Amino acid sequence: MADLDRVIADMNDIEWWANGAEARADAFRTLREESPVGFGPEPEIEGFPPGPGFWSVVRHEDLMHVSRHPELFCSGQGTNIPDLPVEIAEFFGSMINMDAPRHTRLRMIVNRSFTPRMVNRIDADVQHKARAIVADIAEQGSCDVVTDLAARLPLEIICEMMGIPRDLWQRIFELTNMILGDSETTPDIAALMGAAIEMAQIAQAVGEDRLRNPQDDLVSALMHAEVEGESLEPMEMASFFILLAAAGNETTRNAITHGIRLLTEHPDQRAAWQADVDGVSATAVEEIVRWATPVIHFRRTATEDTRIGEVDIAAGDKVVMWYESANRDAAVFDDPFTFDLTRTPNDHVGFGAGGPHFCLGANLARREIRVMFEELFTWIPDIHASGPPAYLRSPFIHGIKSMPAEFTPTTVPTGAN
Ligand code: HEM
Repeated sequence: MADLDRVIADMNDIEWWANGAEARADAFRTLREESPVGFGPEPEIEGFPPGPGFWSVVRHEDLMHVSRHPELFCSGQGTNIPDLPVEIAEFFGSMINMDAPRHTRLRMIVNRSFTPRMVNRIDADVQHKARAIVADIAEQGSCDVVTDLAARLPLEIICEMMGIPRDLWQRIFELTNMILGDSETTPDIAALMGAAIEMAQIAQAVGEDRLRNPQDDLVSALMHAEVEGESLEPMEMASFFILLAAAGNETTRNAITHGIRLLTEHPDQRAAWQADVDGVSATAVEEIVRWATPVIHFRRTATEDTRIGEVDIAAGDKVVMWYESANRDAAVFDDPFTFDLTRTPNDHVGFGAGGPHFCLGANLARREIRVMFEELFTWIPDIHASGPPAYLRSPFIHGIKSMPAEFTPTTVPTGAN
């Protein structure tokens, strides 16, 4: 019991989240074994009224149940632990904070742009951008993995897909950092709102332009898409862009950065992947996402009195799905604490545990991670972390703010294929 109390106290201490997942593994194991569905207080967050507390769901099986029953566990009352006014939640989170039928309608409109076929269409672009990013650092022999490598690819792809003018890409990057950063980079709620409004204005301007002058980009497709006679309102487009920019950038960049860290710590795994890149890449990407679990949790709210396992849940209760815990659940994964790039099967919940909100960008993220590692292996195959990662202080994003790396300098020929 002492252990359990300790774990619950730790989880409400923001500093605890700056230690990385490996340091938290024992705590989540204790919860899975002793309190798989347990109630605890909410952390106090400056600027938010104290909340009523929440249920922590930590077993894989229970997460699947919650995630796949949106009629019992809804998203429309917020998907992060603190409560925000519904309008603000929708503004920040777009469809991730909506339920059917509004969620279904939006998802049908945007789904078309994220099918495997669409991702294949931009495949050459992903590779071209990844190579240019590697070329930019290759002669230096060292870099900061986050800023110089991992953050650039997802940001450039999303901005390109959305048709955002190139001179605004850096600003979009800064704004997403403010929205999903920790208290060191996000000073207060006013700055957070300011960042979201600035992003919305950029997206709205692009949306209005594409209504008049459609081009071959995602915004044009979204503004002109019609599902059952309906298309996106410019404001919905702006919110969706905030979601895409945040969801697409912070997650994929952390997967890539954790990947480099993990390969440094597991040279045997690295050697096996490099010896058979085509054969191992697909399972390697899934194992990196399982191990990294870039999104640590999402929340739901019970719509009626119900049960999770043996535990009664009352209508209106907050329920938090800890993906990080489910991804180490020994009931589902053999040797869950072994980093195994050929792990098969690998039913991780890094992209969600199924249900209507399953990650829209999963195919794109997989492609970006895979291509980035393939380019690294081709040009700077000995890249390795040369210092410890600086972790983000966040119970939501398993983020790395910076991590130094070294490699043998080389020149990547411009235009090389
Ligand atoms: C490794 C990278 C990524 C991870 C780990 C990740 C993880 C997640 C998770 C856990 C969810 C919630 C799933 C649920 O509630 O069932 C989600 C939703 C979402 N993701 Fe991702 N994501 C990644 C990359 C991306 C990318 C590249 C994009 C877009 C460019 C994206 C767009 C979205 C959107 C739009 C949603 C909300 C879907 C909805 O509400 O219907 N994600 N993602």
